[in-house]
Amino acid sequence: MTTVAGADAVGVAHTRIEGRDKVTGAARYAAEIPFAELVHGWLVLSTVTRGRVRTIGDEAVLGMPGVLAVLHHGNAPRVRDDVVGALGRPDPIIEVFQHDRVPHAGWPVALVVAETSEQAREAADALVVEYDREPHDIAFRADHDGARPVQDDEVAKGDLEAQLAASEAVVDATYTTPEQHHSAMEPHAVTVCWDGGRLEVFDSNQGSKWIADDLAHLFSLDPSAVHVRSEHVGGAFGSKGLRSHHVAAVMAATELHRPVRISLTRRQVFAITGYRSPTTQRVRLGADAGGRLRAFGHDNLNLTSTLREFVEGSAGFGRTMYASDAHHSVNRVLPLDVPTPTWMRAPGEAPGSFAVESALDELAEKLGIDPIELRVRNEPAVGPVSGLPFSSRNLLGCFEEGARRFGWAGRDPRPRVRREGRWLIGTGVAAASFQAGAAPTTASATAETDGTFTVKVTAADVGTGARTALTLIAAEALEVAPDRVRVRIADSDFGHAWVAGGSMGTRSWGWAVSVAARQLRERLALFGSDLPKDGVTATADTADLIAALAQKERHAFGAQFAEAAVDVTTGEVRVRRMLGVFAAGRIINPLTARSQLVGGMTWGLSMALHEEAVRDDAFGEHIGADFAGYHFAANADVGEIEADWIDDPDPDDPVGIKGIGEIGIVGAAAAIASAVWHATGVRHRELPIRPDRVLLAEAARTDA
Ligand code: MOS
Repeated sequence: MTTVAGADAVGVAHTRIEGRDKVTGAARYAAEIPFAELVHGWLVLSTVTRGRVRTIGDEAVLGMPGVLAVLHHGNAPRVRDDVVGALGRPDPIIEVFQHDRVPHAGWPVALVVAETSEQAREAADALVVEYDREPHDIAFRADHDGARPVQDDEVAKGDLEAQLAASEAVVDATYTTPEQHHSAMEPHAVTVCWDGGRLEVFDSNQGSKWIADDLAHLFSLDPSAVHVRSEHVGGAFGSKGLRSHHVAAVMAATELHRPVRISLTRRQVFAITGYRSPTTQRVRLGADAGGRLRAFGHDNLNLTSTLREFVEGSAGFGRTMYASDAHHSVNRVLPLDVPTPTWMRAPGEAPGSFAVESALDELAEKLGIDPIELRVRNEPAVGPVSGLPFSSRNLLGCFEEGARRFGWAGRDPRPRVRREGRWLIGTGVAAASFQAGAAPTTASATAETDGTFTVKVTAADVGTGARTALTLIAAEALEVAPDRVRVRIADSDFGHAWVAGGSMGTRSWGWAVSVAARQLRERLALFGSDLPKDGVTATADTADLIAALAQKERHAFGAQFAEAAVDVTTGEVRVRRMLGVFAAGRIINPLTARSQLVGGMTWGLSMALHEEAVRDDAFGEHIGADFAGYHFAANADVGEIEADWIDDPDPDDPVGIKGIGEIGIVGAAAAIASAVWHATGVRHRELPIRPDRVLLAEAARTDA
């Protein structure tokens, strides 16, 4: 029997190619790359929430040791204000030092540049900035009259009110999620050199070509004059797009003709790199006695800044999930004097699934139908709103496999009947879904004369293992062993590529890599063993292939299971077990894929029980914007978490990928909240389920 070389690349567990470099410290991150003549910038952030900068005391700090410059709105170079990049208009926070207005707390008002980082920080702390304060409004409330619907977002099918009125069982409940932060392990950092009319940027980002093109536009440079590299990234989760520190560093480098580095502190990461908006979501479900949905209503409100409309599109979740006679869903936004929120792992789906999947559990309770069975009865044949066919939809397969492994059968549906010592025990379940898309990308593959292969694609490995996955994909397509393939990523000179976002990174890059690699293999057949001295190269651009895809509902699916133990006398909730079973396309590297899914589920646990950023009404700033004050799940909070998948190759992707970056978090918090209900008989519709909320609910229950 002969095996094709490379056949054991995809689908077999491989450790990360750069893993050894990372754990030994050999891998250099953006703030670690050594430079001669390097100087350091320190951002000064506004201490008022709204108003204008009156004076900046730069004269006084310019005399401090090592200080080279203070950039601010009075002296900074002008940039263009009409940037619309590949991902739309960047957050106007990038138009840094262009005016004296302060639209929110933490707005960058100056950059101090000095010979050392310590000198820059010392001078930044000493810089006196005077403001004219204006009254601000940062209070997120559902009844705020500034709330407005998002344009062209509302989806309406059938008569929701009539169907609700005709329903046997109705759930009408409001769910809230708080402001949450990504705050990746590696704080945002950038180093910029301005050399002979060319910008060299060493960065930590989710897409180097994206950052390069936006910077070129902003500074009116030719795109070929901007070179961005981002070799290693210590986490991103949606937060690592173009930000004010990039722009400030470019300004300083072009003014001083020295390489400039800006590395944000943890507090600055919280303040200026984006976050997930709080949401308040009203869900209305109506069903007949058999559990068939007649009405599905979802009204979501999130906040945004006064600068830009960012939509945390929670109301989108249900549009692909359940069949219903009538469907109405809408996202609304409320502009406040806060920084602009941004994408954060499973934007929309993470909070949206908490509301919808919790409401379904409430409906199952009312109808006396098992929560999995309720989902089976509402499984749509086609997109419930779009009417489009699904490319593939294996949600029920996930529930079936998950129920078997979790031991769901025989569960007593009654709440508060299982007790172990001081603990009340409950189990819960929820569905997960995330869009499966692909976006145009270019890649090249070269056969070198030494028998190895070089693949180039402007991918970003933000900790996902993308570099390793792409190596396996290339090896499979080239029919060679993975150790003969060298994949180079995160260099804007490699050309246009999609970003590490929307769970579409590895799929989009992998598509281009597989096309280039297959073409190369065909071309190599024309050469003998003698390759030209530069080797043979094939390139691919997937734009036409992706444009030719038929319109379908394209999603990954999953089923989340959780077991919670609750001590109602202390308010403590422990998540003992979580199981996620996913139908999320072909799995390229089981080792890193499992890690990504478990990471998402852990984040879901954290969202359910811990995470909550609180702003002080008087100052508009966070209370506790650091890893001590922003509570998230640590090892001791996490029980047994298992993630697995069923076979579900995407029928329209050449490699079979759907994408797994985000789906792990979706539904996880709802499964836990339902497990807490099952344990205690109390429904928590406000996240996080803090001990004080458990105690208050218990007190109310006892009073009643
Ligand atoms: Mo991710 S939130 O799609 O960058």
